[in-house]
Order: sequence, then structure tokens, then C-alpha cells
Amino acid sequence: MENLVWSSEMSVGSDELDCQHKHLFSLYNNLLVVISNDVANKIFRLSDDVLQGFVDYAGLHFEYEEGIMIKAGYHDIYLHKLEHKTYINRMLEAQSELNKNSDPKEWEELCKFLSSWIVNHIMGTDRLYTPYIRSVSV
Ligand SMILES: [Fe+2]
Repeated sequence: MENLVWSSEMSVGSDELDCQHKHLFSLYNNLLVVISNDVANKIFRLSDDVLQGFVDYAGLHFEYEEGIMIKAGYHDIYLHKLEHKTYINRMLEAQSELNKNSDPKEWEELCKFLSSWIVNHIMGTDRLYTPYIRSVSV
């Protein structure tokens, strides 16, 4: 599994939101390190804590981003919020699965989902609001 690397083409036109997206990338990269250590040591407790931190931060970030879209009067917020919900639900589902059975394959599946979701969401759905949030100070 590869690290996520933020690039300027992923910018959504707000320094604050770009900064939060970069933080999501670093949480993901940190999760990869912890998972590979856990797999090597056959211990998964630490990964659970790191995953919880990731879920918590994603929740805060989505809340902030949705607040900006509301402030900007962005028209497509409903579908955007649904995508955020899908992401959180997938993480919660994985968390409960992994609490029952810490299968390295499940971790791998989860990481594949997280990395592709984060990049596709930022490059696709998030960038659609860029022209609308310019008028809002963020
Ligand atoms: Fe978003």
C-alpha cells in the first residue's frame, strides 16, 4: 500500500481546507505505518486507536467543510453530505468488524477504500465547490 501525497492540483481554493485535507493524508499515512507494524507483531490494539483518531478527525473536517458550503449557499450540498456519510459509515463498519476479528486482509481492504475515496472525493466532489466558496472567508 502506498502513501498518499498531496499535490497542488488537489487544491480546493481554500488554504484552511487544503490544510485539513493534507492532515487527512498524514493520518492515513500514519495508519499505514501502524498497520504494518501491527501485522508484523500480530497486535491490532494500536491500529484501532489510530483508526478512531482518523474517524474523529474526518468527522470534524466534514462538519467544517459542510459549514463552509452552507455559508457559500452551495447548491449541491445534499449529495456531498451523502458522500461524507458513506465514508464515515464504511469506517465505522470496518472498526466493528476489526474489533471482532483483526484480519490483515480486512485492513488492506479498508486502506484501499480509504485511499481511493479520499483522492477521488477531493479531486472530484470537493473541487466542485471551489468557485462557490471564493466569496466566503475561510
Ligand atoms: Fe468533502
